[in-house]
Amino acid sequence: MTIRAVVRGIGHYLPENVVENAAFEKTLDTTDEWIRSRSGIERRHFASEGETTSRMAVLAAKAALDDAGMAVSDVDAIVVATSTPDLTFPSSASMVQAQLGMERGFAFDVQAVCAGFVYALANANALVVSGQADRVLVIGAETFSRIMDWKDRSTSVLFGDGAGAVIVEKQDGTGQSSDRGILATDLNSDGRFKDLLYVDGGTSTGTTGYLRMQGNQVFRHAVEKLAATAQTAMTRAGVTHDEVDWVVPHQANIRIIQGTAKKMNVPMEKVIVTVQNHGNTSAASIPLALSVGKQSGKLKTGDLIVTEAIGGGLAWGSVVFRL
Ligand code: ACO
Repeated sequence: MTIRAVVRGIGHYLPENVVENAAFEKTLDTTDEWIRSRSGIERRHFASEGETTSRMAVLAAKAALDDAGMAVSDVDAIVVATSTPDLTFPSSASMVQAQLGMERGFAFDVQAVCAGFVYALANANALVVSGQADRVLVIGAETFSRIMDWKDRSTSVLFGDGAGAVIVEKQDGTGQSSDRGILATDLNSDGRFKDLLYVDGGTSTGTTGYLRMQGNQVFRHAVEKLAATAQTAMTRAGVTHDEVDWVVPHQANIRIIQGTAKKMNVPMEKVIVTVQNHGNTSAASIPLALSVGKQSGKLKTGDLIVTEAIGGGLAWGSVVFRL
């Protein structure tokens, strides 16, 4: 008998404030055309004052609980992937735990920047498989608008805010790739690339610094590393590219998404794309895309899904699961 962590519920929350590319033309030497053609981004959501990472995470978590038909008392653990916590500590996850009214279990954050959700899902899988928890709420939530240098056109036009959540639950499987649940994970990092993408100075208490990125250097690493990690996870899962129903990638740049899908031998018709509407929401982007994909009726029970992400660290990874 094999223990599987099966995705039972998916939900998301996006702030009401939507900002179109054209808005940046007023303050920066940029154009809607440049942003669209270089990144695929058309608009993004920005959190309003007081709308914190933990608040958005709670709203996404409630949507996922509703989708699963579960109460918060059913949950054993909360893992929040974020690089923009409300405070340096306590963890955003423990703040979410309190706001949900959950009085037992445990909660902690995972910090792997844009790869955060993949890392969090892999950790949730390990908790379930090792018997530490039967049901885990896994959330990706970010307020990157709070670490933007609004004078830097090469970064400030690319990011957005939001949150997505999934609930995984322990179920018995056969050990075959036909099982529902997480079939394989692959995680990687290489700290030598720190200077390509980091937040300078300060602390994360509201006096934090600004995001700095050598975008074209990150781009160079992205397609190759994403396709490689996806292939490693698929091989571990015992599946091939023609069995994949959906790729749900980190949503940073449409050209990275297309290049990776091509290298994976998966047509774009099988890729969930939300970058045009959300921008890069870092650790929130994959659960947001999963939720939008499910709500649109594309992702169905039994589908084989490959997620892949890369971000600051550099950190990158992939999770393969059957919905
Ligand atoms: N408007 C107009 N021109 C701009 C803008 C802008 N908003 N931003 C940059 N430019 C200019 C640059 O100054 C440069 O001008 P120059 O040639 O005169 O020096 C020119 O456009 C080209 O710049 P590049 O950076 O080479 O453009 P590129 O085609 O690489 O696209 C982008 C930039 C969109 C950032 C791309 O490199 C990218 O998506 N990189 C990967 C980002 C990523 O995946 N990050 C990881 C996840 S994020 C995380 O972990 C937090």
